[in-house]
Amino acid sequence: MTVNRELTGASGSAAPQLRVREMELAEVGIRIDYFHDASDEYLRMLGVERARLLSREAWREFYELDFARPVRDRENYLLAWELDGEVVGMSMADHITFGEQAFMHLHILEPNRRRSGLGTEFVKRTAVVLFEVLELQRLYCQPNAFNVAPNRTLQRAGFRYLFTKEMAPRPTDFPQPMTRWVLDAPPRLS
Ligand SMILES: CC(C)(COP(=O)(O)OP(=O)(O)OC[C@H]1O[C@@H](n2cnc3c(N)ncnc32)[C@H](O)[C@@H]1OP(=O)(O)O)[C@@H](O)C(=O)NCCC(=O)NCCS
Repeated sequence: MTVNRELTGASGSAAPQLRVREMELAEVGIRIDYFHDASDEYLRMLGVERARLLSREAWREFYELDFARPVRDRENYLLAWELDGEVVGMSMADHITFGEQAFMHLHILEPNRRRSGLGTEFVKRTAVVLFEVLELQRLYCQPNAFNVAPNRTLQRAGFRYLFTKEMAPRPTDFPQPMTRWVLDAPPRLS
């Protein structure tokens, strides 16, 4: 199944073109390299412990198996964020209960592209895709409480704050205070 959500700014062809689409198996290296090539400080900000990352090879094998499953049975569902045809970010859904709920993650790859409004727009479009493809009733996101960027971005994208709690929900997480945010319906795109 291929899902494309292509949205062009209302002002016409000069507007940047944002697109959220399924990440292909051939592209999973983007995600693997993003984490493996990150500094320890950056991983700490994300709440991730380097020693808990799968090796590059094991991680790729995990995706090969996971991509072979129907979407409803996937452990992870990966989306690429394209700006004018270039992949500039990515999202991933995990802890998926198909037809009910999932947790999403959000990353703009290059620091110089952050904090200019892109994340908010991609998160909204990602939510629309995830609600549709995973047939969700609700979508969660749970960043490290001290990582300001995702917390602000989720609020900006329309998520509702639920609580803050010490957790380590994924195998790569170290125990940390995390904020849980929820969307009960797909956001409206302007
Ligand atoms: C999280 C992320 C995807 C957000 O995308 P972005 O393009 O930077 O976000 P936006 O420009 O749309 O900003 C949305 C809001 O967050 C705020 N914000 C973004 N980065 C910020 C920062 N570093 N410090 C403080 N506020 C920040 C913006 O000012 C804006 O707030 P406003 O609504 O008050 O104007 C991006 O910053 C990123 O990839 N960060 C590194 C990876 C990461 O931490 N991912 C989260 C893992 S859970």
